[in-house]
Amino acid sequence: MSPDELFDVEIKLLMDGIFQVYGYDFREYSEASLRRRLSQWLSGSGFATLSLAQSQLLRDRALFDTLLRGITVNVSEMFRDPAFFKAIREHVVEYLKTYPFVKIWHAGCATGEEAYSMAILLLEEGLAGRFRIYATDINEEVIRKGQEGIYPLQEMQRFTRNYQQAGGTRSFSDYYTARYDHAILSPSLRENIVFAAHNLAVDADFGEMNMILCRNVMIYFKQPLKERVLGLFDVSLAQGGFLCLGAKESLDHRQIAGRYEAVTPRMQIYRKRYAKK
Ligand SMILES: C[S@@+](CC[C@H](N)C(=O)[O-])C[C@H]1O[C@@H](n2cnc3c(N)ncnc32)[C@H](O)[C@@H]1O
Repeated sequence: MSPDELFDVEIKLLMDGIFQVYGYDFREYSEASLRRRLSQWLSGSGFATLSLAQSQLLRDRALFDTLLRGITVNVSEMFRDPAFFKAIREHVVEYLKTYPFVKIWHAGCATGEEAYSMAILLLEEGLAGRFRIYATDINEEVIRKGQEGIYPLQEMQRFTRNYQQAGGTRSFSDYYTARYDHAILSPSLRENIVFAAHNLAVDADFGEMNMILCRNVMIYFKQPLKERVLGLFDVSLAQGGFLCLGAKESLDHRQIAGRYEAVTPRMQIYRKRYAKK
């Protein structure tokens, strides 16, 4: 057996153990991504092999948390893919305005930038007091960061550019206070967002939503897990609700595809059809 094949066996054994001990299910994550991230973690861990790390990982929660941080890719930014947020403004908001109250689920929200961007957009579109955002992630550490809403000041230039390209109507600096090298987002934005831990691989749905965003999360999943997660969204989404995926994801060839129509070409924004009576 080659070292690479042996490494794959070690990954499989460890992922089984992690599922049994901690309930985190990475067994259906794409192999290429797991391999890359686990070998990165291993090289900084002080263990010679994954098998040697395994017995401690299954007993020591703090050590496991370092691995969890290594496995999940948590990069995000405000108004990421500005054209996507512009499309929400131009093609989706008009429908949301017709609802008395709008519930939105950001699944795999990482450190919260996407959820805060949505809150800003909806406030600017006159939906104050009429929406709630549920921002969830498997990784509790990033959820805590999201709750804080504090980001490096040096990011603000890029976030401001994204905001403007996404059709922002104010000055982005209205939404944060600069303190030393950090930007503290306005607490009034946080009032619209509930942050919570949720694992798409094992947890149940979240109640009826009018819009679900899951962007740049399923790229790390194998096909069966993608189908499970899309099934979960399908159950959670109200008829006429919107499902938004990342730039490299789509509903093409998915089991639920027939129940959705694309809202805009190229933007991975789908609308759930109303069931025929
Ligand atoms: C690259 S970030 C995407 C953040 C944001 N949606 C965006 O597009 O900017 C992917 C996030 O998915 C989360 N994630 C990975 N597996 C998950 C799972 N099984 N359940 C919930 N979140 C998961 C990771 O912790 C990470 O924060």
